[in-house]
Amino acid sequence: MSKNIDFYYFSPTGGTEKIGIYLAKSISECVVEHNLADKNAPVENPKNEFSVIAVPVFGGRIPAFIAEKLKSIKASGKKAATVAVYGNRAYEDALLELNNILNESGFCVIASGAFVAQHSMYPELAAGRPDEKDFEDLSCFGKKILEKLESGSEDQIKVPGNYPYKPEFSAPATPISTEACCLCKKCIAICPTDAICISENKLKTDITKCALCMACVKACPTHARILPPPMSEKIRQMLAKFKDIRRKNETYI
Ligand SMILES: Cc1cc2nc3c(=O)[nH]c(=O)nc-3n(C[C@H](O)[C@H](O)[C@H](O)COP(=O)(O)O)c2cc1C
Repeated sequence: MSKNIDFYYFSPTGGTEKIGIYLAKSISECVVEHNLADKNAPVENPKNEFSVIAVPVFGGRIPAFIAEKLKSIKASGKKAATVAVYGNRAYEDALLELNNILNESGFCVIASGAFVAQHSMYPELAAGRPDEKDFEDLSCFGKKILEKLESGSEDQIKVPGNYPYKPEFSAPATPISTEACCLCKKCIAICPTDAICISENKLKTDITKCALCMACVKACPTHARILPPPMSEKIRQMLAKFKDIRRKNETYI
């Protein structure tokens, strides 16, 4: 496709962006990026006829503050493909929630996918994904989307999920900073919800604002930003059973 397309994404640790941009570039060489983590500008409405929208799955839902940002878009009937990226456990109601919000925003969702990336809280799960096989799946999905666009079809798709959705995910605790913290403020700058500040020469994290998205943990240059060890242990116990399973990517078109 020679025409520009819009690409909306939220990717605190990079997996969603890798998957979403690969799909977008398999549809068009000219991709206009909209990073939903951007705190300094409102989300722009799509200028082009087609958008790819990719978000991560948090607790079987999409992150609540990203849902709010997506609700502010006015798409006026423009077409979109949606992608929910999850860490090999389950995506549950996330894709349905994403599509319902985008339909309300005026998008005509013609294709959707649930793709797997390394788990951002437990990196041993789906380690190394997306991998070569995932990129093959994305190319194949991209081709099918192009064919559907070229056919002019406006057929909307049905995706799995339940309504009412699972309860909204809320952070039971926030990341903490160890003594290795050098107060470089990279975490403050990257936090998409402005949950981190400095108080009495120490980092403070507001649990009511923290989405537990892991952007601060990923960005910390001294690896001082970590999940509280009891929380990491609980997550390991919950997720270790999914380590030997390779979830397949799913597409709906
Ligand atoms: C707070 C939180 C909740 C998550 N919940 C789920 C989940 O319900 N199911 C799942 O399979 N993965 C879950 N994950 C893993 C992410 O969906 C996955 O790692 C995704 O790739 C993260 O996107 P990113 O790499 O763009 O940050 C969760 C991750 C976080 C940080």
